[in-house]
Amino acid sequence: MGFSARGLPLLGVGISSSLGIARPDFRALRRARPDLLGFVELAIGWRAHTYLPEQLRDDVEAGTRFVVHPTELSLDPGDPPTREMLAGLRSIVDALRSPWTPEDVGTWVWRGEHLGGGFLPTALTEASLEVAVRRASEIQDATGVCFLAENPPFAEVIGDLRLGTFFRQLCERAGAGMLLDIGHLLSYQLARPDDRALFDELPWERVIEVHLAGGAWIPTESGAVFWDEHAAEVPLEARALLEEIWPRLPNVRALCFECEMRPDFAILDELDALRVLCPFPAAS
Ligand SMILES: [Fe+2]
Repeated sequence: MGFSARGLPLLGVGISSSLGIARPDFRALRRARPDLLGFVELAIGWRAHTYLPEQLRDDVEAGTRFVVHPTELSLDPGDPPTREMLAGLRSIVDALRSPWTPEDVGTWVWRGEHLGGGFLPTALTEASLEVAVRRASEIQDATGVCFLAENPPFAEVIGDLRLGTFFRQLCERAGAGMLLDIGHLLSYQLARPDDRALFDELPWERVIEVHLAGGAWIPTESGAVFWDEHAAEVPLEARALLEEIWPRLPNVRALCFECEMRPDFAILDELDALRVLCPFPAAS
């Protein structure tokens, strides 16, 4: 399956949600401002295929657009996704009419164990890249929709490839798109301030979706580390980076505000602001 941005729908500005928590209440937000909420991105595991399609059938029929964000597909040498996992994911993608699936490149499952709901970022090595290319292709073939490789957050970077090289190679060789996470990119810039080629090498033309979230600087022995914190305010640095990057994205279709546990009114204000800051199409 080759990559083509043509045919992918324009979703605009949306939010992330997890059905396991009460906030944000996407149905209430959609009722309050039906014009504002372009889509809802759901972080879910493959086992949800037994109940999720039924649970969200009315929302899908009523026109709510969903993006399915799996949370257990290791794209590096962690446990490979099983056939059962990929079949479950396919059922969810089909039922929710998800136009693509994004996943952070890293280890989600190791020796049969989920890493506590989180994941480890991939090492930027040729060996990891080989595995990531193979797995991204397999996931894409199994789901029948475009796979978006998301840049993970880094406290420190392991491996000698540059982030831009890794993601350009991964996307081009797997025929995949990219999800560019702004906070994760900030964390990489902090961890590797000497990577001057970053903006020359990232596959901007493959970026279909962008993530923006709150974040915080965490002091460590080797200096400050930037980390996503979805309940926190969006730092000025992240907003500035988003503004700088936006005009470089000729094919971007969606901007997701990751906002679990934020109050609904704050989410609406943020979506309004993002719509002004990031008009679609982003670049001509
Ligand atoms: Fe993200």
